[in-house]
Amino acid sequence: MLKVGILGLGFIGRVHLATLRKLRGARVVAVCDVEPERRAGRWRAPGAKDYEQAELGGARVYAAAEELFADPGVDVVSINLPTYLHAEYTIAALKAEKHVICEKPMARTSTECSRMIAAARRSGKRLFIAHCIRFWPAYAKAREIVHSGIQGDVVSACFCRRGALPLWSWQGWLQDPVKSGLCGLDLHIHDADFVQHLLGMPRSVQSVAGGFSDGRIDHIITSYEYGPNQLITAEGAWEYAPGYPFAMTFSIALETATLDLTRDLKLMLYPVEGKAREIKTEEGDGYEHELRHFLRCIEADRESDIAPAASAMASLRLIEAEFESARTGARVKCNG
Ligand SMILES: NC(=O)c1ccc[n+]([C@@H]2O[C@H](COP(=O)([O-])OP(=O)(O)OC[C@H]3O[C@@H](n4cnc5c(N)ncnc54)[C@H](O)[C@@H]3O)[C@@H](O)[C@H]2O)c1
Repeated sequence: MLKVGILGLGFIGRVHLATLRKLRGARVVAVCDVEPERRAGRWRAPGAKDYEQAELGGARVYAAAEELFADPGVDVVSINLPTYLHAEYTIAALKAEKHVICEKPMARTSTECSRMIAAARRSGKRLFIAHCIRFWPAYAKAREIVHSGIQGDVVSACFCRRGALPLWSWQGWLQDPVKSGLCGLDLHIHDADFVQHLLGMPRSVQSVAGGFSDGRIDHIITSYEYGPNQLITAEGAWEYAPGYPFAMTFSIALETATLDLTRDLKLMLYPVEGKAREIKTEEGDGYEHELRHFLRCIEADRESDIAPAASAMASLRLIEAEFESARTGARVKCNG
């Protein structure tokens, strides 16, 4: 039974807490947050009147990460801090001989990612990056179908992720371009990472972007260069009005069928010949599948074959290339 400590009990830390508490093979033994309310499990969504109360299940409660890292009863730390803190706290947790599951994006820059990978190597502990879309049942199933070759090669693919501006973040860090990388690094990386997981690193990217003010990226559209006739694109947007329902969708045109993920997360297959049908996918969400997978990897002392840390660093590089393309208007080459 792996004993997990959760660092950061904001939006996603609470998801990790609830998910890990359900999983067999893990026990949440400690939680930590700088905010007294958060570490007591209380959270209030922006504009909401009432607080939500998370069940801590008797976990030890710490106000400082150093105390969590010093707890000899913790084997694994789940890092759910703002992106600009990922590298610093991941490296500190690894130094304290804890395995780490860190939220996506891996860090604020690819240079920080290299330091995290080097720290994991030095510590002999495991480092996983929680790119949940790789584990989301409909995405995983679509990849399986594409890789099986049953429906032929990919002709085109279009991934889309859109929502309202997130307003919940601690001290507004998500709206600070330096701390979060805004929509491109925070939201759109889910699809950039999945494109990379599905088709490998593209040769180059061409991006266009827009935002609320000059230089701010609140909406980005990228074309990824693979084969000469393949059109592979991803779009991420978070400037829609409050109340706009979040949507993640895709359409993948293969030679003999088109796969489509609908707004209500149904995976449809439209064959060139024959009737459309819904494809059955596994129960549960990407958070549950990724956390179960990472815990199994730790138990077996092995690297993840689905989401290795080096691949999360490659996705950071991809986003950096996209930012450069959006800024300069040029197509930007990608190197590994
Ligand atoms: N996989 C997903 O679907 C998904 C969804 C949302 C967020 N995320 C990622 O998760 C990370 C966190 O995002 P969020 O939306 O949960 O942020 P958040 O602002 O809601 O939560 C961050 C929490 O960290 C705490 N904190 C800050 N500094 C701390 C410190 N030094 N020690 C202890 N606690 C500290 C804050 O009090 C806050 O509770 C980001 O990297 C984000 O990109 C991933």
